Amino acid sequence: MIVRLTVDGLEHAADVDPATSLTTLLRDELGVIAVKNACEQGECGSCSVLLDGMLVCACLVLGAQADGRDVTTVEGLADGEQLHPVQEAFVETGAVQCGFCTPGLVVAAADLLERTPDPTDDEIREALSGNLCRCTGYEKIFDAVRLAARDGWG
Ligand code: FES
Ligand code: FES
Repeated sequence: MIVRLTVDGLEHAADVDPATSLTTLLRDELGVIAVKNACEQGECGSCSVLLDGMLVCACLVLGAQADGRDVTTVEGLADGEQLHPVQEAFVETGAVQCGFCTPGLVVAAADLLERTPDPTDDEIREALSGNLCRCTGYEKIFDAVRLAARDGWG
């Protein structure tokens, strides 16, 4: 079936099997490799994207369900050359090690700050609880979210 969707502001069309996940559509058909693929079971958050502004695990969404809709990945959060405040904060605090979790965490953190501009640590913990990181111990990720809240939304 033909799926038409917008990804980070660009329109696309792809001919996919109806059982294809949105992760596979994005990565394998459209070359959007900023969306990471790990567990494929909704457990790790590495595939987190915004679908019409709602945070989802792309591995749990069928590509067909994205027909006619807008997908925003970590790459679409930036404004041209201007990084999103959460992206800036991840760089500034050194919240990235191997980086595999980073695209999903940045999308999830940006989603949190859109809804809750000055989150408590419990609200950060809750919002990022679906995004697993094996490297950082999370402390610098929390620092990044706090910094983005202070600089970007405060
Ligand atoms: S790959 Fe989607 S949640 Fe892990
Ligand atoms: S930086 Fe490696 S998994 Fe998070």
